[in-house]
Amino acid sequence: MHTPEGEAYRLDEADPGHRHLFHVPPADGGSHPESAYLAGNSLGLQPRATRAELLADLDAWQRLGVEGHLEAERAWLPYHELLTAPAARLVGARPAETVVMNSLTVNLHLMMVSFYRPAGARTRIVIEDAAFPSDSYAVRSQARFHGLDPDDTVVRLRPRPGEDALRTEDVTGYLAAEGDRVALVLLGGVNYLTGELLDIPAITAAGRAAGAVVGWDLAHAVGNVPLALHDWDVDFAAWCSYKYLNSGPGALAGVFVHERHLGDPDLPRFEGWWSTAAATRFEMTPVSRPPATVEAWQISNPPIFAMGPVRTSLELFDAVGMPALRARSLRLTGWLEQLLDEVTADRPLRVVTPRDPARRGCQLSVRIGAGSAAELTKRLRHEHGVIADAREPDVVRFAPVPLYSTYHDCWRAAAALAATVGQVSS
Ligand SMILES: Cc1ncc(COP(=O)(O)O)c(C=O)c1O
Repeated sequence: MHTPEGEAYRLDEADPGHRHLFHVPPADGGSHPESAYLAGNSLGLQPRATRAELLADLDAWQRLGVEGHLEAERAWLPYHELLTAPAARLVGARPAETVVMNSLTVNLHLMMVSFYRPAGARTRIVIEDAAFPSDSYAVRSQARFHGLDPDDTVVRLRPRPGEDALRTEDVTGYLAAEGDRVALVLLGGVNYLTGELLDIPAITAAGRAAGAVVGWDLAHAVGNVPLALHDWDVDFAAWCSYKYLNSGPGALAGVFVHERHLGDPDLPRFEGWWSTAAATRFEMTPVSRPPATVEAWQISNPPIFAMGPVRTSLELFDAVGMPALRARSLRLTGWLEQLLDEVTADRPLRVVTPRDPARRGCQLSVRIGAGSAAELTKRLRHEHGVIADAREPDVVRFAPVPLYSTYHDCWRAAAALAATVGQVSS
């Protein structure tokens, strides 16, 4: 690699980010004390603030027992409301449209209970062929739940031959041609494998114009790219909080339902005692009276200790702001791309993420020409202290996260790749 290490240090001095707010795992190999952590697309790092905040919530339980529901400093009954406004800001929603609850696939199912309403010839669900497997399983099981054959019902859109990512027109073209048979479009905003950012507003508009409902899995988009779900007229969206939102493994997830669906008495929905309006929750009447907000989709009382880390993380996003993060993300990922260009030029490696920064978030995915991705990431970690993540058989993902990753992390990743993967002799 030609780019000298000193150049990375110089860039870090000029554009330092917020690494000091996070715990960075120690390196398990190589010559640096800290890992070059580029796996935030899989699991984000722990904010330093999280532990104390979590302990404060545990203290309240210790001191107050059941009275903590009302008397804790952050009373448990309305605790989830503390997360609503910052989550709404992050996804470009109104507070009434957003709630933090459950986990991602569970929420996708709850959304589909309401919004996947196959009728007549309009039964299809459109996903990407490279959808995250959980989404694929979820939509197939929804088809079956409605008595439909998943093989006929689920349409998997593939990139054109020889291309790695879907073009917007591949999706909008399908919707223009076949849209009258489509009940639901459910795509990943940023694809987990390729890192491609789809044109959410254009595809949403095309899907809705075709008469379909349009939902988004934003697991890899939230906290990664700016979102404006309300203005984009998205019907619903769901996301997890353990990737770019740094809220810990299996963290509570988020849901968006557009205002136009709120309070609709005709929407089917699974309900529990948390679906009824807060003021009526303890009346314990046989019939619920759901509020005209997305809280009507809540079912159970929420896990307080799981909400603390999400609250702490959302505060960080509020403090730094998505515009500043996106700007740094473009700089960092552009730098990693430049380094990977040097490394991949004469090696059996190919970046499959779109080159246009407007069509991606921070993740760059590298397809390897030979060997196993998992073996390669093992070597990167144990020989160089670089943590990337493998999607077998042949994709290694590198995500410089603008909150805590550095230019030097990117340099180490590229240098490690260069040292690990042999050059092709010309
Ligand atoms: C795009 C996408 N969808 C769904 C999931 C599944 O998430 P969960 O296990 O939280 O339901 C993941 C997990 O990584 C994901 O990346």
